[in-house]
Amino acid sequence: MLGGKRILLVIGGGIAAYKALELIRLFRKAGAAVTTVLTRAGAEFVTPLSVSALAGEKVYTDLFDLTDEAEMGHIQLSRSADLIVVAPATADLLAKMAQGRADDLASTLLLATDTAVLAAPAMNVRMWGHPATRRNLAQVQADGVRLVGPDEGEMACGEYGPGRMAEPVAILAAAEAMLSQGPLSGKTVLVTSGPTHEPIDPVRYIANRSSGAQGTALAVALRDLGARVVFVTGPAEVPPPTGVDVIRVETARQMLEAVQAALPVDAAVMAAAVADWRVANAAGSKLKKDGSGRAPALEFAENPDILATVAQMATGRPRLVVGFAAETDDVVAHAVAKRARKRCDWIVANDVSPGTGIMGGTENAVVLITADGQEAWPRMAKDEVARRLAQRIAEALA
Ligand code: C5P
Repeated sequence: MLGGKRILLVIGGGIAAYKALELIRLFRKAGAAVTTVLTRAGAEFVTPLSVSALAGEKVYTDLFDLTDEAEMGHIQLSRSADLIVVAPATADLLAKMAQGRADDLASTLLLATDTAVLAAPAMNVRMWGHPATRRNLAQVQADGVRLVGPDEGEMACGEYGPGRMAEPVAILAAAEAMLSQGPLSGKTVLVTSGPTHEPIDPVRYIANRSSGAQGTALAVALRDLGARVVFVTGPAEVPPPTGVDVIRVETARQMLEAVQAALPVDAAVMAAAVADWRVANAAGSKLKKDGSGRAPALEFAENPDILATVAQMATGRPRLVVGFAAETDDVVAHAVAKRARKRCDWIVANDVSPGTGIMGGTENAVVLITADGQEAWPRMAKDEVARRLAQRIAEALA
C-alpha cells in the first residue's frame, strides 16, 4: 500500500504511454497522491487532459512555464515526492538520464533530485538491444536508478522481443517495494532460483525437477520486508515475482556470471538447483542417430559451485550467505557437512525423497543449520518457510 506517499510520474513519449494512465489509477487506488509530468513527446501519445483527470491534479508539461515556476519550481517538484517513476522510460529519456542532460522539465527534475527513481523502460527491441542503450542502462543503474521490466512479447511496432513496458501492476509492485519501510529497507539481497539447463546440443539439455517455487517465494518475502532483491533465475516453471530485479539465465556458468555481476549485496540466498555437471562435449549442431545403434558418448565437466564461490570470497563477501541442501538421506548430517565444506553461514536443509512430495510441491519441511546448531521447522507452505527465513535474514542483517 502507498497510503500517504507522493509519487511523481514522468510520462515519456512512447506508445506505452497509454499504460501510464492505468498506472496513475493504480497508484491512487493504493493510496498515493500522483503528480504528473508529461514530456513533449509523451503528449503526442496521451493528452494532458486524460493525465490530469486521472491524477486529479494539474499535469506539468513545460520547463519554462512561468506560472508553474512561480507556483512550484522544478526543483521543488522533484523534492516533494517520495518516489519518482519514469514510465515509459524511452531510450531517449534514459540517454538523457545517463548523460545528466537537462533540456526539458522531465530531464531537469530528474537531474535536480535526490529522490529514489524507478524507471520502466519501453522501446523497440532493437533499440533495447543497441549498445548505446545498454551503456545508458548500465550507467543509470550505477547511478542508483531502479528498473522494472521491460517484458518480452509482441510490440506495437509489430516486432517481438524484450522492450514492452512492464505491466502497470508490476510497476506498482516495484514502487511499493521501493517505498516499503520494512526491516530490510536499504538492503540488497541476491536470490538464485530454479533449475539450470545444460545443453547437450542446440535442442537438447540436461535439467532437474526444480520448479523455482521456493526461490520465488523467498524473493517475494524479502521484497515484502523492503529489500531490493536481485533475482537470478534459471528456466523455472513458476514466473518470477514482480517488484524485483529479474536476471534470466540458462546454464550454471551464466548463473555464476550474473551473480558476480550483481555483487556487492548484503546477503545472498542460493536456492537454485544448479546442475552439478555440464556436458563438456556439447555439440554445436543437433546430434543425429547414425544407424549404428550406438548412443553418443557424453562427457561431463563439473560446474562451478556458485554458493561456495561467493561464500569463500576474500573481499566483498556478502555479510550473510545462505545455501540450500536438498537431500534424500541423512539430511542433517549431509547438510552440516555441506555448510562446513562450502563455508556458507546457513544451510536450509530439506528432504526431497520422492515420497515427501516436496520437490515441485507447495510445502516444505526444513532444518535450518547455522553456526549455533540446528532448528527443525515443522512442515509448512513454501511461502511460510520463505517468510520465516526472510524474517531471520532481516534479524541477522539488522
Ligand atoms: O552441493 P549441492 O548442490 O547439494 O549444494 C546445494 C547448494 O549449493 C544450494 O544452495 C545451491 O543453490 C548451491 N549450488 C550452487 N552452485 C552449484 C551447486 C550448488 O550455488 N554448482
